[in-house]
Amino acid sequence: MADEKIEETEEENKDEESATEESEKPIDDEESPVETPDEVEEIEEEIEEEIDEDGEESLEDLEGIGPATAKKLMDGGYSTIKSVATAAIGDITEAAEISEAKAKKVITLAKEKCNMGFESAESLLVKRQDIGKLTTGSETFDTLMAGGLETQAITECYGEWGSGKSQVAMQLAVTVQLPLDKGGLDGEALFIDTENTFRPERVMQMAEGVGLDPKEVLKKIHVARAYTSDDQMLMSEKAAEMVRNSNIRLVIVDSLTSLFRAEYVGRGTLAARQQKLNRHLSTLHKLADLNNCVVYITNQVMSKPDMFFGDPTKPIGGHILGHSATFRIYLRKSKAGKRIARLVDSPNLPDGEAVFKVTENGLED
Ligand SMILES: Nc1ncnc2c1ncn2[C@@H]1O[C@H](COP(=O)(O)OP(=O)(O)OP(=O)(O)O)[C@@H](O)[C@H]1O
Ligand SMILES: [Mg+2]
Repeated sequence: MADEKIEETEEENKDEESATEESEKPIDDEESPVETPDEVEEIEEEIEEEIDEDGEESLEDLEGIGPATAKKLMDGGYSTIKSVATAAIGDITEAAEISEAKAKKVITLAKEKCNMGFESAESLLVKRQDIGKLTTGSETFDTLMAGGLETQAITECYGEWGSGKSQVAMQLAVTVQLPLDKGGLDGEALFIDTENTFRPERVMQMAEGVGLDPKEVLKKIHVARAYTSDDQMLMSEKAAEMVRNSNIRLVIVDSLTSLFRAEYVGRGTLAARQQKLNRHLSTLHKLADLNNCVVYITNQVMSKPDMFFGDPTKPIGGHILGHSATFRIYLRKSKAGKRIARLVDSPNLPDGEAVFKVTENGLED
């Protein structure tokens, strides 16, 4: 049912795209081959207005980028000037097959075009006042997160198999639908499932657990199954569009790393994998930031056999992921069905632990 929704929106978007193509045609019209300076100015103004509206212009507007290079960049996943502005030099040299010096120049130009710069701390504070908190259903877990999972941020949960990462994901897809006074965000959820572990039956149990109508809850969760890391990247970009035009307040990627891990095997592929993950995370960050929604991602751990003290497990994805998630939670199983969540990295909260249970009703204290 939820799959259908995504397809529907895809169709709608296709329609929109063709509509804009048509409306742009008059600019290229060959009726008057020689245009007057006034006309040129008018067209330029029009284009500028368009750019202001959606904040994006074509790659060819960057000095030194011809149609062939622009196409290579597009094929490499850099379809907007913003995506070039936030890319690493190595990514651009590889995607566009240009020299390092040229890539550097292109990135600098893209940054200038995007007007990327500083914001006053005061205006940041105003933006942060909009931050919402999403309840996990467990009071102790919420307390650890100072009230719940924050919007405008990525929260990563990592842990071994069966530690409850997907349980938390499904639970959040339910609680996001609660009204604000019950700790929800009165919104819908988008679920990118890479491991085929999303279970509507389980979600229905959880919905009953928080007193919501299970059937209604299912209608407001939009599930997309990703089979490859490319699927996953595309879906996150698609998600950005969907979130903008709907009441989606939570985006889940469960799991963030499993497909990448399966596809990029061996040390030689590590750099490529990290670059791609980095780009994926940047899409998710923007999504959270620009739409004031919660992004929840899960991640497995890999064992570190050379470690003798402490916990011999490390989240996958290395430092790129470490610096990219705003909040990181390490989840582990404890006795009698209990789970321990440890907040390991947060920009504004103290590290700490919370103990909760996963029951038939979902997450509980
Ligand atoms: N209906 C239920 N009632 C109680 N506990 C449940 C129920 N369904 C699942 N669980 C608990 O959740 C566990 C599975 O957790 P989950 O799928 O979230 O793990 P995970 O961290 O996502 O693991 P993986 O890395 O394999 O994806 C089960 O082992 C069980 O303990
Ligand atoms: Mg899971």
